[in-house]
Amino acid sequence: MMFQVGEQTEILDAFEVDVECLLEALYLRWGYDFRGYSRASLRRRVARYIADAGFERVADLQHELIRDQARCQHFVRGLTVNVTDMFRDPQFYAVLRQRVIPELRSHPFIKIWHAGCSTGEEAYSMAILLQEEGLADRSVIYATDINSKVLEQARKGIYHERMLGNARENYRLSGGRQRFDDYVSSGYERFMMDGALKKNMVFTTHDLVTDQVFGEMQVVICRNVLIYFRRELQARVLTLFHQSLDLGGFLGLGIKESLSAFPSPSSFRPIDADVRLFQRMD
Ligand SMILES: C[S@@+](CC[C@H](N)C(=O)[O-])C[C@H]1O[C@@H](n2cnc3c(N)ncnc32)[C@H](O)[C@@H]1O
Repeated sequence: MMFQVGEQTEILDAFEVDVECLLEALYLRWGYDFRGYSRASLRRRVARYIADAGFERVADLQHELIRDQARCQHFVRGLTVNVTDMFRDPQFYAVLRQRVIPELRSHPFIKIWHAGCSTGEEAYSMAILLQEEGLADRSVIYATDINSKVLEQARKGIYHERMLGNARENYRLSGGRQRFDDYVSSGYERFMMDGALKKNMVFTTHDLVTDQVFGEMQVVICRNVLIYFRRELQARVLTLFHQSLDLGGFLGLGIKESLSAFPSPSSFRPIDADVRLFQRMD
């Protein structure tokens, strides 16, 4: 089978062809569209799912996915990579504090969208930042992900205590004004985020590939999601973010991500290129 990736044509091996068929089937039957995702990680995940679930061939999995919606949802949850952290890349949050917060102060109401928020640590980091800067009461954080299971955990805001050391350190490095522990209660090897932080947070499923714009945002954060997308899909999703942002709004990407796939990169100016923070100019 010949497969077109941008300008190049690849010849696929049998397993890779099976995966292509499976992705088509998933889309045609249930509307989940992973066809624009980078294949390396996707293929590894399919291979692991097949081994773990005891299927012999991709075709057997495909047969079942077409017929069993619960199996399909389970499979889709296994396709996404959900690694995240509190104040991940602390410098990103330091720059938000120094460069973005002062501009947000002039807004009577602030809308922030965390797209691909996984288990919510990123959104809670933002909630802490807004609280410390006195902006929490006039802000709303929309935290979305394609994976309903990770969103369940995000809503609860409960994490294993082994994450606590790293969270404290990242918070400190990000310029945190208090102690990270002031925002959590601990017990039973878990820590839970303070209920006050959740007051203005909305957790909801949203698929960046198939769902619509989240309008009139002052800030869109989508970190470590585009790396799993091929260039054409990156372009579509960056266009979605551009449409979702108010003029002058801010876009934060992951450290390994860029605007290079976006059809008109000059629509954004870099606020801090190192941490991939941009501002919409037109
Ligand atoms: C590696 S995590 C990144 C989490 C967080 N943004 C961070 O940087 O730590 C990638 C997240 O993107 C989500 N994701 C993948 N495809 C998506 C899509 N089409 N729409 C929305 N979220 C998606 C995954 O479910 C996963 O939770």
